[in-house]
Parts: sequence; structure tokens; C-alpha cells
Amino acid sequence: MSNAARIELDGKSYEFPVVEGTEHEKAIDISKLRAQTGHITLDDGYGNTGSCASSITYIDGDAGILRYRGIPIEDLAGKCSFVEVAWLIIFGRLPTLADRDRFTDLLTESSRLDENMKKHFDGFPTYAPPMAILSAMINTLSAHNEEVWEAHDDKSIEIAAAVLMSKVRTIAAAAYKSSIGEPLVYPRYDLKYVENFLHMMFSVPYRNYEPSETVTKALNLFFLLHADHEQNCSTSTVRMVASSKANMFASCSAGVCALWGPLHGGANVAVIDMLQEIQESGISVKEYVRKVKDKEDGVKLMGFGHRVYRNFDPRSKILKQAAEELLTEMNISDPMLDLSQELADAALNDDYFIERKLYPNVDYYSGVILRAIGIPLNMFTVMFAIGRMPGWIANWKEIHDDPQGRIYRPRQVYTGPVNQTWVPKEERTYPPLY
Ligand code: SDX
Repeated sequence: MSNAARIELDGKSYEFPVVEGTEHEKAIDISKLRAQTGHITLDDGYGNTGSCASSITYIDGDAGILRYRGIPIEDLAGKCSFVEVAWLIIFGRLPTLADRDRFTDLLTESSRLDENMKKHFDGFPTYAPPMAILSAMINTLSAHNEEVWEAHDDKSIEIAAAVLMSKVRTIAAAAYKSSIGEPLVYPRYDLKYVENFLHMMFSVPYRNYEPSETVTKALNLFFLLHADHEQNCSTSTVRMVASSKANMFASCSAGVCALWGPLHGGANVAVIDMLQEIQESGISVKEYVRKVKDKEDGVKLMGFGHRVYRNFDPRSKILKQAAEELLTEMNISDPMLDLSQELADAALNDDYFIERKLYPNVDYYSGVILRAIGIPLNMFTVMFAIGRMPGWIANWKEIHDDPQGRIYRPRQVYTGPVNQTWVPKEERTYPPLY
């Protein structure tokens, strides 16, 4: 089979090399296309465009495969902690005991916020969206933590990564405490990553929150399953910002903003909103599915569908099982889980969804777990961001470590007005804007 693609344009023939990844996916290298043909490509939503070569995460959307640094997610989910998987994703191999202990110590030592940084929380209104606070405060970290300016080799990048991964918990918990009028809770140096986060979220000065093993196991799994996912919207944003040589914190802060949207990380909130709307309106699942199929008011089945997966998202399978186990172990009966299953069953057996290869994605069942743990709805996407931090850091590092790296600067096809001239104010007779 030829390892070149041939294009015929205006009677001329051009050849472009075909490159093959380690999992045998193929791409046409068009880096010389414009220079040779004067043409660019156009690919709305980048559905057919590879923005980079990356060795971090592999997804096979048709087979429903997800691997971090070549290790299947199913393997890691049952055997690793979130912190171990984070180190794997960032540095490319599983940590030794020494790596893990050193990184854990760095995370613990970095968990407290600078006292001056805490003052920023006083300025946010109680109704401030936690994702707004998170992106702002992650960016602000670079004003208080010089480690980010010194991140240039594995040792200094490990330190900056620990600062960011550790403090993102503290910032998230502080945003929550500020929103409910409770005092910010200092991290404890005797607690592991997930336990410390839950402590900062739910302890109060007069009573420590002691999470059950079931809860910490479920949240550890939640973070692990969200840790990276190839070139999704927010990770591509991190790479875009990183390509200008912006620092790790600024790049990941931009990732938070991209994740916020309801078509992306905001979907875990939209799923619960959707289930609550069905419950409160009293409409049947069948009627809701009809509305989705008729695209009534643009309504979608939130938590379903994916740009890459044309099969079950492997994470949703694991999260579904974890949600069922958690509710059983906590002896909680959440009607949302039953409703979500009824809705999924209806969709999975309906030609509209089958023909479009729409399956539950990572966001479909994750909200049930967060609800059982007691995470408020407006913090759901923040939880996704905490989980995705290692993936963003790893992609920032991959850009940073590439000596040939170029700034990301896509082209466009211009479709605006042509041959325009300036018009004096008194001659401007345009219709009103609205
Ligand atoms: C995440 O990219 C990643 O890896 C993301 C992520 C990660 O880990 O980073 O996996 C996390 O963002 C998961 C996705 C969370 N978003 C949602 O659950 C929102 C609901 N899903 C849809 O908005 C949609 O499926 C997207 C945004 C996820 C994907 O959109 P695409 O690839 O642009 O697909 P599309 O809009 O072109 O849809 C193709 C067809 C259309 O119908 P027709 O025009 O052919 O008639 O499928 C329909 C769409 O209307 N469709 C849906 C649907 N998703 C797609 N119809 C109803 N409900 C849906 N959820």
C-alpha cells in the first residue's frame, strides 16, 4: 500500500506522505500543502484533523479503547491510585516507590495556599461560579508560586506539577466554602490526596470530616478516569496556549475555561439538570426521547454522544458499575440512577441513537457518584477539572519538551465583505443592530 496521498489540483498532481502511529492509525502529512499548492484544508470542528503527534493517551473510538501511556484504563482503574496514574500520564511510565513517595510528599507540602492568595476569595460574590474562581485562581497561582517560572526540566516540572495538582484541590474546596459562608479549611499533612480534598470540602473547625473508604475509593476512581483523554477541546486549548511558551498554570487555566462548556466538561451538570427536568416535569422517558429525536428546542440527551467514541465510552461502563456499588455500599437509593438507566435503555434501543452511534459518555453516570458523595451540582465540572489536571500538565510538558515545537497558528477561509472603504459618520445609514 502506498505511503503517500496524491491530490490532483488544477491539472497538477501532488503527493503528500502518509504517517502511521504506533497503534497504526494513519494520517496524511499536509505540512507542505500550502507551500506546494497554495491551498489550505478546511475542517469544521477539526473532526478530521490531527493537531499533533502525542504519546500520552490513545483512544480507539470504534472499539471503545482508552489507554494512558499504553496501559488500558480498565487495568489502571482497578490497581492504581489517581496520584500514581497522574505521574504515569505526566512522566510516561509508572512511578517507582521512590517516585511515588517523593511526588506524594511534594503534593502534601504544596497543599496550603499562600495567605495572601486566600484574600482573593473575599472578593468573589457567594454566587460566583466555581469554574470562574478556579480558572482565575489557577492563573493567579503564578503570582504566588515561583516554581512555575522555573519549570524547565523533569525535576522542576515535577515540582510545578505537584504545586498545581495539589493546590487545585485547595482552591476548589475554598471556592465551595466561600460559596456556603463557611471558613476555609486548611489541608492536613497526614491525609492522602483524595482524603485531604474531602477534608477541605466537608470538615468544619469544630468537626473533622472522616470519609469512608468507599467514598475515597469512588472519588479516586472518578479522578483517575478523567485524568486524560487525547486531544479533546480543553486539552487542545491547553496545547494552543502552551505553544506560545505560556507557563503551565496559565495554560491549564485556559483549559478550565474550555472545559466549562455544557458540550464538554459542563455536561456532567447538564445531565443532572436534564434528569431533574424530566423528574420535575413529570414527562415520560419516552416523551423526552421523542423531544430529543425531534430536536425540539435544540434539546439533546446530555451525557450521550462523543466526537471520537462510536461505541460505549469505556469510562462510562466503569463509572456505571462504580455508581451502583457506591449507592449499594452507602445504602442510598437515588432515583436519578434509576431514571438515568431507564433513559439510557430507551436510547440504546432506539434507531435514532443507534444510527448516529450515540452511547453514554464519561459524563452520563459520573454525576450520580458525585451526588452520593455530597458534592454540590455547581462543583461537578470543577471535579472534572481536578481529575483532568494531569492530562493538561502532560500535554503542556509534551509541548514544552519539544525543541522543534512551533506556535499553533491555524489558517482560515475568509468569507467576509470585500472591497470596502471608510464611510463618514453622517453618511452611515445602516439598519439598527437590534
Ligand atoms: C466530554 O472529546 C473528548 O474526549 C471529550 C471528553 C473528555 O474526556 O475530554 O470525553 C469529555 O466532553 C464528553 C462529551 C460531553 N458532552 C455531552 O454529553 C453533550 C451531549 N453530546 C453532544 O453535544 C455531542 O454528542 C458532542 C458534543 C459530545 C459531540 O458532538 P459532535 O461530534 O459534533 O456530533 P454532532 O453534533 O455532529 O452530532 C452528530 C449527530 C447530529 O444529528 P444529525 O444532525 O445527524 O441529525 O448526532 C446528534 C446530532 O444532533 N447528536 C445528538 C447528541 N449528540 C449528537 N442527538 C441527541 N443527543 C445527543 N447527545
